[in-house]
Parts: sequence; C-alpha cells; structure tokens
Amino acid sequence: MSTILLPTLKDTLQLGYLLGKHLSSGSTLLLTGNLGAGKTTLVQGIGQGLNISEPVVSPTFTLINEYLDGRLPLYHLDLYRLEPNQVDSIYPEIYWEGIEVEPGITVIEWSEHLAIRPSNYLEIELIAAPSQGRQATFQFWGKNTYDLKFILHFAQAALQKQIKPSQK
Ligand SMILES: Nc1ncnc2c1ncn2[C@@H]1O[C@H](COP(=O)(O)OP(=O)(O)OP(=O)(O)O)[C@@H](O)[C@H]1O
Ligand SMILES: [Mg+2]
Repeated sequence: MSTILLPTLKDTLQLGYLLGKHLSSGSTLLLTGNLGAGKTTLVQGIGQGLNISEPVVSPTFTLINEYLDGRLPLYHLDLYRLEPNQVDSIYPEIYWEGIEVEPGITVIEWSEHLAIRPSNYLEIELIAAPSQGRQATFQFWGKNTYDLKFILHFAQAALQKQIKPSQK
C-alpha cells in the first residue's frame, strides 16, 4: 500500500495522465472516496493520458461512459446512485472481463457499491489531505500484475514539492 500527495487539482490530473499513459489493457481501477474527493478528476487525467479527444464527464447519471477513440478503450462507471443489488443489472463484469467488449481500462467510481469484484485490480482511495488538496492511497488486489514504477517517480516529485517551501 502506498500513499501519494496531490496538493492541487493539477496533481490529480497528472497522476491520472500517467495512469492513462502507462496502464495496460485489462487494467481495472476501483476508486473509493467521499463526494468531491477527486475521482472524476483522476479519470479526466486518465482520459488525457489515453489521448481521448472527447472530454471525460461524470457518469453519475448515465452510470457508464465509454470512450473508444484513445490508445485503449476507457470504460468509466459511477455506481453512486445504485445499491449493490442493483449494480448486478448493469453487468460491470463485462468491462473488466473484456469478453463482450473490446478490452480496455475500466475505472469505477463508488466501487464500494459493487456486489462482485474482479479477480485482479488496483484500488485507489482518494481523500482530503490534512493540509491541502487530496491524497491517493494505492492497494493491489489479486495477482499484482500492475507495474507502477512511473507512479513512484511521481510520488517522489510530489514529495519534493511538499518539502521545498518549508526548507526556505
Ligand atoms: N488535488 C486536488 N486538490 C484540490 N482540489 C481538487 C484536487 N483534485 C480534485 N479537486 C477538485 O475537487 C472537486 C471535486 O472533484 P471530482 O468531481 O473529481 O470529485 P468526485 O470524487 O468525482 O466526486 P463525486 O463523488 O461527487 O463523483 C473538483 O472541483 C476538483 O477540481
Ligand atoms: Mg465523480
């Protein structure tokens, strides 16, 4: 488990950008965190990293948004309005299994509402940071096939940014 500081909106977008740039097909990200924690913002960054031309918008009302013109398909789900027993009816597994749809990256907001989970996924919890901005905590579940070296570099850069002002 590792935690990354995201002092500004730009950092949330940049983290998403790196995920979109580097994650491989079949990756599933389960996002958790309160209302306004920055989940959709992270997915907007992922859209940029995948080179998706359409703006990524919140699927709170549409439940699922599909973006097919980037490096890989992006399937963006938001389960906020659904109870676990209603989530089954939208068949979230077709996205992470990638059998009936072209395999891509599946990102699910309010993933706490899932009744079933993929066998292998990356969980990212976004919370308000004690000082300012947000922090993201990463946890792998399953076979741990996610290579996130690129995030370590980002985390070190973010940490240096944090340390700099107090050294002056
Ligand atoms: N690191 C950050 N620092 C400060 N503000 C941020 C940061 N990341 C995102 N925000 C801001 O937080 C607000 C809410 O973000 P967002 O809509 O992405 O949250 P959400 O988790 O998707 O909320 P919901 O649960 O309602 O879908 C936005 O105004 C966004 O600009
Ligand atoms: Mg959202």
